Amino acid sequence: MTHSFFIVTYGCQMNEHDSENIAGRLAAAGFTPADSPENADVVLVNTCVVRKSAEERAFGQLTHLKRLKKNRETIIGCCGCLASLRGQDLLKIIPHIDFVLTTQDIDDVAVIVREAFNTRQAGQFEERAFIPDNRASLRKNTFRAWISIMKGCDNFCSYCIVPFTRGREISRPAKEILSEAASLVNDGVREIVLLGQNVNSYGLKPGGEICFAELLAAVAAIPGDFQVRYMTSQPLDFTPSIAEAVAASSKISRHFHLPMQSGSDRILSLMNRRYTVEGYEAIVSQIRDTVPGASVTTDIITGFPGETESDFSETIATVERIRFNGLFVFIYSDRSGTAAQKLPDKVPDQVKKARLQQLLSLQESITAEKHAELAGSITRVLAERMTGRAPGQIFGHDTHNRVVLFQGSKEQLGRFAQVRIKSAGHWALKGELVEA
Ligand code: 5AD
Ligand code: SF4
Repeated sequence: MTHSFFIVTYGCQMNEHDSENIAGRLAAAGFTPADSPENADVVLVNTCVVRKSAEERAFGQLTHLKRLKKNRETIIGCCGCLASLRGQDLLKIIPHIDFVLTTQDIDDVAVIVREAFNTRQAGQFEERAFIPDNRASLRKNTFRAWISIMKGCDNFCSYCIVPFTRGREISRPAKEILSEAASLVNDGVREIVLLGQNVNSYGLKPGGEICFAELLAAVAAIPGDFQVRYMTSQPLDFTPSIAEAVAASSKISRHFHLPMQSGSDRILSLMNRRYTVEGYEAIVSQIRDTVPGASVTTDIITGFPGETESDFSETIATVERIRFNGLFVFIYSDRSGTAAQKLPDKVPDQVKKARLQQLLSLQESITAEKHAELAGSITRVLAERMTGRAPGQIFGHDTHNRVVLFQGSKEQLGRFAQVRIKSAGHWALKGELVEA
């Protein structure tokens, strides 16, 4: 008898990618995808724990799924970062879940699920250091594919739980990545996203053959009509050669997402980021000099323990100087086991929130000015989907990873289009197709 499965995914693109890998392995083992949790024999929740709110959502979802046990004996599993963090303890914390699948165990998902059917309460496999082969994945999207190039993080920023959930850094051999990329391009994939918690340190650890800039250039050199993106970069290991590789190839996205986290040296040091504001600004200048018109976006945390008004005003001043193309702001969230959790002078919630709002409204006006400067320019957009909001309206991202909306037809989906920017809204640019 064939069993069906449904995966609920939370969190970052690494999790989305892991879900595709899990789906691919289950499909290869004879399981079929279901259209809803209600219709599935197995439901897997792929979880995120980067902030407390994400962890609470994961627990909420897993708790809520108990309802599925009423009508049919649905098998429920927890995967992703919560699974890696809490391991088998989860089976005690949430008694109605049947198995725990850590991010290391993805290759064994079919065995673990089968075992769960037999014993209800499957075991956890030993921790292993490898990255699953993506070729076995069931991709949701035919024109975009993720390739994990490294996993884990050794930076131990003091607020971050990732080094505890994703483990130590390990890079995949370049040969494997390149052959996977070539076969994806051959299958008609238009966008390859190279994934890792810390892509800049690709190949830097013992055993590495080539560095990230070289890998990027090698992927871009594969013949075909496609573009390459990557995430996430860290300022610590960013080298000028990365911007040079981008400048040298029109196939690499002109977007640099470089989390700054704070504009105060004192806070950066408490965060264990190991760069200064001056060092960070030098990287941004090098990027902008090497890749004219590059889009630079960042992440900032507000209300890190001990962050004073004066620290925060340095962050504001830095954002005003750098004028990012986009900004993600997060309220500091205490994660147990991290060094920051033990720091004194926790910032009250309403202060954290007010600082977040202040940064968001500052960035809103910067983004509006930056968008206005783009009117009349032509940009290359990968047409992703119809918006469904207005007839014939297409949603896509351009080479700078900006959202662009334009009028077109279904035939354009999954292809690149030249679009002239006409106007800008809050979060998206609006444009019109340039006739070939
Ligand atoms: N609290 C708030 N934000 C966090 N991030 C990571 N850990 C925490 C935390 N404990 C943010 C960082 C990172 C982004 C993905 O999430 O800004 O760059
Ligand atoms: Fe977390 Fe820092 Fe590693 Fe990013 S670089 S995953 S913020 S420890």
